[in-house]
Amino acid sequence: MKDFDKFIILAELILDSKNEDAVKFARQNLMKLAKMYPELNDRVLPIIKKNKSAGITKSLRFAKQPLPVDQDSRLELIKTTISSKVLPETRWPENVQNILDETIREREFEEKLVKAGLKPITSVIFSGPPGVGKTLAAAWLALMLNKPFYVLDLSAVMSSYLGRTGNNIRTVIDFAKSQSAVLLLDEFDAIAKRRDDGGEIGELKRLVTVLLQEIDEWPNDGLLIAATNHEELLDPAVWRRFDRTIAFPYPSYDDILKFLQSNLLEKLNDENTLILLSILFKGSTYAEIDKEINTLRKKSILSDTYFVDVLDSYIESSLENMNKSDKSEMKNYADNLIDLGFSQRKVSDITGLSRPTVKKIVESKL
Ligand SMILES: Nc1ncnc2c1ncn2[C@@H]1O[C@H](COP(=O)(O)OP(=O)(O)OP(=O)(O)O)[C@@H](O)[C@H]1O
Ligand SMILES: [Mg+2]
Repeated sequence: MKDFDKFIILAELILDSKNEDAVKFARQNLMKLAKMYPELNDRVLPIIKKNKSAGITKSLRFAKQPLPVDQDSRLELIKTTISSKVLPETRWPENVQNILDETIREREFEEKLVKAGLKPITSVIFSGPPGVGKTLAAAWLALMLNKPFYVLDLSAVMSSYLGRTGNNIRTVIDFAKSQSAVLLLDEFDAIAKRRDDGGEIGELKRLVTVLLQEIDEWPNDGLLIAATNHEELLDPAVWRRFDRTIAFPYPSYDDILKFLQSNLLEKLNDENTLILLSILFKGSTYAEIDKEINTLRKKSILSDTYFVDVLDSYIESSLENMNKSDKSEMKNYADNLIDLGFSQRKVSDITGLSRPTVKKIVESKL
């Protein structure tokens, strides 16, 4: 669609007083702009963020209808709360991002695909350790597709009486379909774990069959996402059902640096400290890093010490304990530290590499 077409649509919505539709249209297109033209982020993101409570959060909840509840306990079966960190500019490693983008793109061209007898991606399975961004990515997809986002924790529903579980899962699936929602089935391996439990095998088998059928037949206007921390528990027949599989890796050094830059920007504007922290946090998940940073922030408040000073002493003691056995990784870090202007002696101290090795790295850069 050309820009002037978009303007005409927006003008018509406003002049017809279709305010909700106009807001939705404007928000959707602003998010597309933010994604397509990162150089416009300075102008576009503040507008999106400013309208976040009225815009993004609402668009992810949508709750037009009451949420489905358990027949007996009347407790809600699905969660709709989302992290405040879901923003259009959130990025994942390239191979992950490519599939997320492909999912969105196929939706944009749904009509063309359907005309050619093809179906856009409607089911995806995420795997990876806890705290690497699976739930966040599911919420991000819902945001980008402008669809309501619902989470069903399978391990929680599966722990109740199975007869009831079947009904509950069916209720949630029907609800999500009726809302054209993005439904995240969290802890998906729970369906595999219960397989060898004694008494209720027959019922469980039926349940698994229903679930697998749902994956095959998920409608084009919704999206079903399954997430698991234990991919080894799922058999290949289950994996094959999904249109795409995405393995979420541990964040890389660059990912961590970006994460720290955006999270600590207001509290700390010291690139050297952020780089050292990124080196130290390598091998941790985002969730672990978040927790560690919050612990340090609390420490700074409770001990009435500047946050920078708390960080400095944390860095100092952690560097001493760092595992310096991975030489090739340490060379990369040394490279970064040299670029930052650290002395050769300091780089050697931090990385555990010998002074001649560090010297060689410096010379190779000349
Ligand atoms: N790509 C990312 N960019 C920025 N922050 C991220 C990213 N991925 C994850 N995070 C941070 O990590 C936290 C944990 O992510 P999330 O809850 O999505 O993990 P998860 O993989 O779903 O974990 P679990 O398996 O325990 O459910 C998020 O709240 C967010 O702060
Ligand atoms: Mg999760």
